[in-house]
Amino acid sequence: MLNIESIRRDFPILDRQIYGKPLIYLDNAATTQKPQCVIDAISWAYCNVNANVHRGTHFLSLQATEMMEAARENVRDFIGAESRSGVLFTRGTTESMNLLASSFSDAFIKQGDEVIISGMEHHSNIVPWQIQAERKGFKIKVIPVTDDGELDMDAFRSLFSGRTRIVSVTHMSNVLGTVNPITEIIAESHRRGIPVAVDGAQSVPHMKVDVSALGADFYAFSGHKIYGPTGIGVLYGRPDLLAQLPPYQGGGEMIKRVTFEKTTYNDIPFRFEAGTPDYVGAIALASALDYVRGLGIDAISEYESQLTVYARERLSAVPGIRFIGNAPEKSSVISFLIDGIHPFDIGTLLDRLGIAVRTGYHCAEPLMDSFRIPGTVRASFSFYNTKDEVDALVAGIEQIIRMF
Ligand code: ALA
Repeated sequence: MLNIESIRRDFPILDRQIYGKPLIYLDNAATTQKPQCVIDAISWAYCNVNANVHRGTHFLSLQATEMMEAARENVRDFIGAESRSGVLFTRGTTESMNLLASSFSDAFIKQGDEVIISGMEHHSNIVPWQIQAERKGFKIKVIPVTDDGELDMDAFRSLFSGRTRIVSVTHMSNVLGTVNPITEIIAESHRRGIPVAVDGAQSVPHMKVDVSALGADFYAFSGHKIYGPTGIGVLYGRPDLLAQLPPYQGGGEMIKRVTFEKTTYNDIPFRFEAGTPDYVGAIALASALDYVRGLGIDAISEYESQLTVYARERLSAVPGIRFIGNAPEKSSVISFLIDGIHPFDIGTLLDRLGIAVRTGYHCAEPLMDSFRIPGTVRASFSFYNTKDEVDALVAGIEQIIRMF
């Protein structure tokens, strides 16, 4: 059981007033708020161990390096990776997917080959593949999404061919809340010898993720969506696969030896961490993961599921509501439309009541096109949200309907 009242006291921003009303923050799929321990970790790192990592012989540099590598170990443990060498620090899921699409396609994808993604991907798992597809002449195949917002698994199976090189899909949709059958997707792909990359930006904060148990070949997530700082994220990769990939960027710690004639590259994970890494971000991310561990990811999952079910029930009674995303396997995201009112108007008017939701196409324009809608209103929940806040959301929407 989580003590929500006490948890809320860990997040200073939750005391803020917006237009004279208490903040009700329901935009957690975009970014989460930060507990005091994460804010303190950033300040502590700059006050105590700030020095460039992996370079110095001096005390501070060695200590900063140790702390960054301890953060890597922390992440490894959190996601159940077999070794630290498979844990790369990036700027976030977007950079993780760009790195993967670039390096994986350099190594393994040729003209005429195929990559499978899904119709519910965030732009971060579409555009990086498109950029590479244009350069290398490979084809992108898309798993269709059903009217309920699930992946059409029969269609998925039919997309494989002798030219398929990788499957890259989201674990949980940032728009629909659908939790995809990732174990089955991986099993189907591996049966055909195809590796799977998973966009875990939305899943890691809400459910236990064990990349080894899943058998994921690559798994990406962002620090800021799991109560950590912005600008730090992770790409996990199976070490034997990562070791075969060329670097994504050049400079800094990614080399072994540089001459004008030839440069040789460092081992993983450092081969993929060019330039001064965000070691302060890594240290603070470790603090965020410790915070989540302290609450317990299973307890978080259970509380958030109950809250989402409650919100869905309460919202169902709102006249003219249409939910986008009705999959049985859903988590902590509710997208909807209200008859005759543009999502942007709902978002703007809710904001005046101190309620933060996201409106628009949520960086998933092709998904909106497939539902033939201009966007949705999206409420997304965290463990610090309460039933009272859900009630306020429902009352706010009812007030807006009366105004219209
Ligand atoms: N990907 C983030 C969202 O879904 C920004 O809002």
